Amino acid sequence: MTKTILFVDEEEYARKALQRAFRDMQGEWEMHFAVDPGKGLQILAAGSVDVLITEMVFAGQGGLEFLESVRQRYPQTVRIVLSGYADRNVLLKSADLAHQYIVKPCDDDTLKATVARAFMLKELLDQAPLKQVLTRIGALPSLPARYAELAAALDAEEASVQQVADIVEKEPGLVAKLLQLVNSSFFGRPQRITSAAMAVSLLGLDLVRAIVLASSTFDQFKGLNVKGSTIDAMWSHAAATAAMAKTIAKAAGLDAKMADTAFTCGVLHDIGKLLIAAHLNDAFKAITARMRRQGGSMAAAEMAVIGTTHAALGAYLLGLWGLPEAIVKAVAGHHCPTAQGMSGLDMAAIAHIANGFANAGKQLADTRQPLADLDYAFLNTSGLAEAVTQWRELCARLLAGEAH
Ligand SMILES: [Fe+2]
Ligand SMILES: [Fe+2]
Repeated sequence: MTKTILFVDEEEYARKALQRAFRDMQGEWEMHFAVDPGKGLQILAAGSVDVLITEMVFAGQGGLEFLESVRQRYPQTVRIVLSGYADRNVLLKSADLAHQYIVKPCDDDTLKATVARAFMLKELLDQAPLKQVLTRIGALPSLPARYAELAAALDAEEASVQQVADIVEKEPGLVAKLLQLVNSSFFGRPQRITSAAMAVSLLGLDLVRAIVLASSTFDQFKGLNVKGSTIDAMWSHAAATAAMAKTIAKAAGLDAKMADTAFTCGVLHDIGKLLIAAHLNDAFKAITARMRRQGGSMAAAEMAVIGTTHAALGAYLLGLWGLPEAIVKAVAGHHCPTAQGMSGLDMAAIAHIANGFANAGKQLADTRQPLADLDYAFLNTSGLAEAVTQWRELCARLLAGEAH
């Protein structure tokens, strides 16, 4: 299947540069170039476009209006902004309308990787049920604006703790979540953390980034058909899974960066549930009713009701937002990881184990009892079974607030 990509930029040199960057892909990708939004819309109307890459600044119709009409008329097209325009307000507004924002000048490799990831997502859509569900949802939520602002600050320069704390402090809900997390037993801090700056310096920038993304995503879904108590329960589960994933990664001897990635996977792994709850509310009710009636996992009930799972949907959304492949794959595979690599312990395996632990509640401490959400066949074939018992004890102590 040929994939179609549309570039919109009024500067000829910019179009030429894009053409050059993508020259060796010409066989695989059908490429269209337009000089302004009007021409772009004509191409969009003529046939399906998988990925749109557009500048934001045009002499005539503005980039924001263009993105808005593409979002409304062609919700399935991946919208990427590639702009040299660094006005913060425009950036924040476009964060609502575009799935990804790349700042010019941008090297060929970054651009190619972004487009390749966009197409990987389109391939995920070849699973018919996922595509159908996404069509029912319509336009997917954009990357939360607060996160876009933080990511831009972190990418632009060596951000200071204070700068990051300032961004976080613009949203009281975010500060509350950060303090709640850092003061929970999971982090085992002896002293109480009372300010965003203290929390940021203790957690480190990568964790704050993950928490800001997860927390502002949760907030985006508030008020959209989802009960506050449902969101709160999902958040507690996400926080517990994240802390346990980090603990497991550290116990397994992974480095600090990997442990932070594990945390990110944990805090985001069930984001697809929010998507279903907020945008397919009737299906969500049918799914929870089925679980009450028949028991079993949520993923199984989702398969029965909508033909796909929150894992696939969440992975799709995070991929659309440009999160690293390891995280997207971990979210996609957190219920059924497959043994990969020598140790079998990749991010999907860590997310799977941490999720199983977090769902176990009090049962976690009784290590003789198998856990319902752990795939023991996978743990045995990947040689992780013994280590899992140790990690379970560690996480049970963490849950009980004993670990420091
Ligand atoms: Fe899940
Ligand atoms: Fe989960």
